[in-house]
Amino acid sequence: MLTIDFTGQTVVVIGGTSGINRGIAEAFARHGARVAVASRTSQKVADTVAALQHLGAEAMGFVADVRDYDAVVAGFAEVAAAFGAIDVLVSGAAGNFPALAENMSPNGFKSVVDIDLLGTYHVLRAAHPHLRRPGGSVINISAPQAVLGMVGQAHVCAAKAGVDMITRTLALEWGPEGIRLNSVIPGPIEGTEGMRRLAPTPEIHEACRKSVPMRRMGVPDDVANACLFLASPLAAYVHGVVLPVDGGWLLGGYTAVGAAMEPLLRAMPARDKP
Ligand code: NAP
Ligand code: COA
Repeated sequence: MLTIDFTGQTVVVIGGTSGINRGIAEAFARHGARVAVASRTSQKVADTVAALQHLGAEAMGFVADVRDYDAVVAGFAEVAAAFGAIDVLVSGAAGNFPALAENMSPNGFKSVVDIDLLGTYHVLRAAHPHLRRPGGSVINISAPQAVLGMVGQAHVCAAKAGVDMITRTLALEWGPEGIRLNSVIPGPIEGTEGMRRLAPTPEIHEACRKSVPMRRMGVPDDVANACLFLASPLAAYVHGVVLPVDGGWLLGGYTAVGAAMEPLLRAMPARDKP
């Protein structure tokens, strides 16, 4: 019988110190894994490691900005030395702010692309020597912006579409080594930093909820459960897919949030530099 049990396995969650990714780290901890998390803020790393240990898991963390390749390489070396080969890698560090393309500076656009897209490449590239083969599983945390355009999200749309193409391309390159790669696209997840930024008023939040065919926002466990499945033997032949976990949002409702945000974004002052 195939089961979802990660006892004895090493799981690394990059950007795992808050929101959806922390929910994913905790879910793997509850299912027996030893878990490592990483992000830029040492206090968030320390708090998350303590919370994972409180759940009974062996846990560690490292501080790194995914834009700094050398720091990411050093972090994975620490994890591999302490925990051995990596069975599951979740790459979810991301940055976002809503702004019209003409109102953000080139550096604003670049910051998000550097974190989401270049950062994903850095993470996967640095993890590659340490991934278990055969048997390793990589999950990239993507976003609906990878699939459809959204007003105020040119940087995120470009970056996350790139993330999914990394998933597909490395599925071709690393599949023969016995490493599976997949992307997960969370829908609107309640109580997260992402939704605070993309649905900043109660009215837009409500428009968002109503636009989901299932008529509810998601919770971090909705995304975490999909990650448990994708990393488990139940998904042994699932490779190179981009899986929405969104209550059907991408079937049509998603664009309603962009429409609700548009007047607010058009009224925002430009941040571009001369
Ligand atoms: P969040 O709480 O802000 O999580 C982002 C995580 O990434 C934090 O742990 C953050 O910690 C870390 N991080 C940010 N920049 C980093 C950098 N440069 N280097 C290393 N770590 C960095 O956001 P969230 O809303 O839960 O989103 C989590 C993921 O889900 C993201 O990939 C996002 O695109 C995706 N997503 C979210 C939603 C949603 O509804 N929220 C929907 C679709 C997709 P530090 O600040 O300590 O670095
Ligand atoms: N509107 C327009 N431009 C913005 C902006 C906004 N709301 N917020 C930041 N920027 C621009 C800045 O002006 C700067 O460009 P400039 O140097 O030309 O002025 C550029 O983005 C970088 O800003 P900075 O604050 O120096 O970047 P950072 O590397 O410290 O932080 C961010 C990266 C901007 C993405 C920040 O929001 C972040 O750290 N986010 C992580 C959490 C998050 O976004 N969670 C949700 C995930 S979905």
